Order: sequence, then C-alpha cells, then structure tokens
Amino acid sequence: MLGCDAGHRFDVNRRGYASLLSGSTKLIGDSAAMLDARDAFLEKGWYTELRDALSRLVGAGRPRRVVDIGCGTGYYLRGVLSALEQAGTADGSSAEAELRALAVDLSPVAVARTLRTATIRAEPAGSDSVAADTAGLVADVWSPLPIRDAAADVIINVFAPRNATEFHRILSPDGLLAVVVPHPTHLQELRAAGLALDVHANKVDGLIDSLSGGFRLESADDISRVLSLSPTDVGALIGMGPSSHHSGSPASVAAPAPTDVTVAFSLLGFRRTGA
Ligand SMILES: C[S@@+](CC[C@H](N)C(=O)[O-])C[C@H]1O[C@@H](n2cnc3c(N)ncnc32)[C@H](O)[C@@H]1O
Repeated sequence: MLGCDAGHRFDVNRRGYASLLSGSTKLIGDSAAMLDARDAFLEKGWYTELRDALSRLVGAGRPRRVVDIGCGTGYYLRGVLSALEQAGTADGSSAEAELRALAVDLSPVAVARTLRTATIRAEPAGSDSVAADTAGLVADVWSPLPIRDAAADVIINVFAPRNATEFHRILSPDGLLAVVVPHPTHLQELRAAGLALDVHANKVDGLIDSLSGGFRLESADDISRVLSLSPTDVGALIGMGPSSHHSGSPASVAAPAPTDVTVAFSLLGFRRTGA
C-alpha cells in the first residue's frame, strides 16, 4: 500500500503497480494492440541505436534513481537500467546505492508490461540475475504526480508527453531530463501515403522553449536513418504510433508500400536549473 502525508492510501495491485487515475481524465493511453505492435517493432532492433545513445547519455552521471514517464513497453527503461547495472558492476558502485526505477504511464497495460519485463541480467551471461528495484505507477502526466520532490536523479521521456513543472519538482537539483522527440522528416514516406500523422515542424524549438524556465539544454544528438523494412515491420510501425488512435485497430492496417522509411529523432539532455 502507498500512502501520502494527507492520509490518502492506494493499493498496489497483484501486478505490482498502483493506479492514481481519478477517472475524470478523458485521455487514453496506448492500447494492448498498440503495445503489441511496439513490442514487435522494437524487439527487431530497429531503434537499438537510439536506445544505446539514450543509455550513454543517462549513464554518464551514474544515477541511481530513474523515472520513465510514458514508459510504453519499457524498452528504453530496460536498456538504461541494464547499462547502469553493467557499469555499476564493473566499477563496484552498485554496492553503494541500490538502483531504483519508476515506470509511469497512463496505460495500465503499459505499466504492467514494463514491470513484467523489468528484470535485468548482469554480464557475464549466466551469472546471478540482478534486478533493479522497479515500481510502476498508472498516472496522467498532466496531473500532479504522486512522486516526492527531488526523488529522481534522471527522468527519461521518449516520444511521450511532458509536464515541465512537475518534472522540475521531482528531479534532484542537478538532475537530468533526457527527452526524445521526432523530427519533421520522421516517417515522411508513411505520412505521404496518409499512414502517419504530421510531426510538429518546430517540435525541438518548442520543447527547448517550453523547458527554458527550469532546464538548461546540455546536449543534442540527431539520429536519422532510412530503414529497409519488411511489410510486417511497416505494419507494426504504423500500429504502434498515434495514427492508430485515429485509424481504428492497428491490427487492421494493411501492410503498405513503401517499405523504405525514414526514422529521425533528436535526443536532448536538459539539466535542471534553479531552486
Ligand atoms: C508513443 S508512446 C512511447 C512509449 C515509450 N516511451 C517508447 O518510446 O517506446 C507514448 C506513451 O505515453 C503514454 N501516454 C500518453 N499520454 C499520457 C499521459 N497523459 N500521461 C502519461 N502517459 C501518457 C502512452 O500510453 C504511451 O505508452
């Protein structure tokens, strides 16, 4: 059971997470079908380069408390935790402070999936398994988050909504906010075929502006590739994205041409500033 100073109590269910949704939100998180599509696509390794770059950015500061807002299937959180575990095992720092993570999403299915797959294994293969202590929270990022002030060393936020005020509050004074946003060219071939939604043209500038009150941009990396996908991969890529909210069941998306598809994103590292 979770509790707060005001006396509110929330049960942690048998899947291991608490839900703090009030029932008044009209927003919906990703469905099981979208998460299936995301799993199928990501597990093929198409975004490994992005996950590795994110893990390097986060790992540089040796954080011990990681919060993933909009965790989805947990693909990026697993990568980050695995890299931190391996770095900690190599230099002995993991003995000093336990690695702890919190997976947050509006979708209960997403949080349950992330927790189910959160166990990570240390190298070398075959050694004892090392599990970061990972908890889950179903919550709307636009509401006040039930997380203590300065509780996180790092927030990761990949293709998911942000709440600058709450992120600033829950990050430690010199904490890192690692954000991934798509470029306007992301999925441009699918967009031209009417199979993906528009990306906001000035998403990166808008993001930097919206965070400027409490964060300083510290690093920016662009990743852009043209992937040669199978029709099945293209179906999964469409099914896992926001366009599937608008086009009915992702499973019903016929595998379309073209199969050469641009993926392009910015990985931005923001340092928390101010009081
Ligand atoms: C595009 S997916 C990205 C998932 C994951 N970060 C990844 O890249 O694989 C966006 C995620 O944000 C979640 N989400 C959408 N609106 C949200 C909100 N208001 N509060 C919390 N999570 C939200 C969705 O349920 C979904 O899991």
